[in-house]
Amino acid sequence: MPLTRRHAIAGVAGASAIGCAPLFTDAFALTPLLQPTPADSEGPFYPPEWRGDVDGDLLTVNGKRYSAGVSMLLMGRILSSEGTPLTDARVEIWQVDATGEYRHPRDGGDAPLKRGFQGFGRVTSDDKGGYRFRTIKPVNYGGRPAHVHFRVEAKGYKSLTTQMYFAGENTERSGFGGFSKARDRLTIKPEAMRDPADGAQLAAKFEIVLAKA
Ligand SMILES: [Fe+2]
Repeated sequence: MPLTRRHAIAGVAGASAIGCAPLFTDAFALTPLLQPTPADSEGPFYPPEWRGDVDGDLLTVNGKRYSAGVSMLLMGRILSSEGTPLTDARVEIWQVDATGEYRHPRDGGDAPLKRGFQGFGRVTSDDKGGYRFRTIKPVNYGGRPAHVHFRVEAKGYKSLTTQMYFAGENTERSGFGGFSKARDRLTIKPEAMRDPADGAQLAAKFEIVLAKA
């Protein structure tokens, strides 16, 4: 089903309209602005090197398909506050595998990769601002709710490091960043894929709004 503009705006995670002064009659001034996506902590496991297979398909390593965990298409758009799609933005994600390990020297090292999970990936947003990854729904670990780490960079905009969480799982007893209201705006609800595209069981949509530099 094609998205209408109304759906698209409503679908922006954490988007909210900034109230306009009621006396403004200029229609342009009434165009709602999108609030930039809140930052969240980077955590200790940002990938130390981006070499080899670092594409958007975290489920395929050396032509082999990772079959553990719940497969998930993770997609959305990179937008400005005005709702303009940002093309050529660099979108990076990193996350744990189905056993709860990061592919990072201070965590699982090469173990996730040896089990067939790429661990992190990087894509460039397309001409509609769209990005797309194929991955798994991360499991929770160490008292933290399941989350995917994001880092997004686009020319002329502030770089954003944040995390995406899952509805119903976004509470935590302790940990990086702790609980905050911003967390609600980073929380999405994945949908089961009735007709699994690309063999993924879930579809997750996370739209990201960047602030001007
Ligand atoms: Fe993490």
